[in-house]
Amino acid sequence: MKAIVYTKYGPPEVAKLMEVPKPKPKDKEVLVKVYTSSVNRTDSGFRSAEYFISRFWSGLFRPKYQILGCEFAGVIEEIGTSVTLFKNGDKVFGFNDKSFGGHGEYLTIAETDAVTNIPENISFEEAAALTEGSHYALVNIRAAKVEPGQNVLVYGATGAIGSAAVQLLKHFEANITAVCNTKNVELVKSLGADVVIDYQTQDFTKTENKFQFIFDAVGKSSFGQCKPMLTEKGIYISTELGKNGENILYALITPFFGGKKLLFPIPSITKQDVLFLKDLVEKGEFKPLIDRKYQIEQIVEAYKYVESGQKTGNVVLQIVE
Ligand SMILES: NC(=O)c1ccc[n+]([C@@H]2O[C@H](COP(=O)([O-])OP(=O)(O)OC[C@H]3O[C@@H](n4cnc5c(N)ncnc54)[C@H](OP(=O)(O)O)[C@@H]3O)[C@@H](O)[C@H]2O)c1
Repeated sequence: MKAIVYTKYGPPEVAKLMEVPKPKPKDKEVLVKVYTSSVNRTDSGFRSAEYFISRFWSGLFRPKYQILGCEFAGVIEEIGTSVTLFKNGDKVFGFNDKSFGGHGEYLTIAETDAVTNIPENISFEEAAALTEGSHYALVNIRAAKVEPGQNVLVYGATGAIGSAAVQLLKHFEANITAVCNTKNVELVKSLGADVVIDYQTQDFTKTENKFQFIFDAVGKSSFGQCKPMLTEKGIYISTELGKNGENILYALITPFFGGKKLLFPIPSITKQDVLFLKDLVEKGEFKPLIDRKYQIEQIVEAYKYVESGQKTGNVVLQIVE
């Protein structure tokens, strides 16, 4: 089968299209023929090993699993002998940031992992972009224990995580203030934001409102900068470590003082989460935002675009036609 393989950590060019053996499902696994995947910041992070810590999961000196692609959508072609949840021909989508595999024509995944049937009302392309940004957004929203009617500010509302966060917060009935670029104001309103601040014309820190939760979905602000905008026990979460890793330190210290605090939840995803997302899609409450689509041969170009930090939502990778 064809796959994008990386045998060493490094820039986009380390990812190469080649022929590799097709995997075989174990007893409790399914074999998925992948139609579409995505290229995202998780794939980029593991490929570049920009943060050395990622190597503790992916291999200290070289990548243990050499085909990236944490998101996938495709069709089940074979099932293991003990599989009961799926059958051949099922259209499925899912997420796997342990052994990855979405950037290859076939992958195997345990039936109990984060994989489920594609909702009828979306395409393979949309299904491939359903889980990465949204599960990070979900983990952070849950950690902040957002309740209906609370004021929440989403900074960077047009990224994969930000665009999912706005839609999920709408589902949780928060009052959403979203910060984005002039060109995306209408888009962000259409995702469900109640108030939109254009960061090119307004300083978002000058807003009169106070927020129970500030979620920096692109990691461009700081706790110090946002603290005055938080309510007495308000919560700040960022998707990045912050200057000199300060967010880790604040996450260890601030919860002990009972006032405004910074949290740094560890992301995770379960089958329950993909079922939850599927349900929202079926109810018309969530739809992944798609920006560009690349063919598998264009992987280097796709990575470069993703790493420009300027994508709007998600970038889809077509594996087979
Ligand atoms: N290391 C990992 O494994 C990992 C995994 C996932 C995510 N992350 C981190 O999580 C963050 C978000 O990821 P993502 O995929 O959701 O982001 P993304 O899609 O790459 O975000 C791109 C968006 O960010 C907005 N943006 C860029 N600069 C901005 C600024 N100064 N102020 C406000 N918005 C700005 C742009 O919108 P405008 O056009 O409106 O400016 C663009 O739409 C990234 O920092 C990423 O590194 C890390």
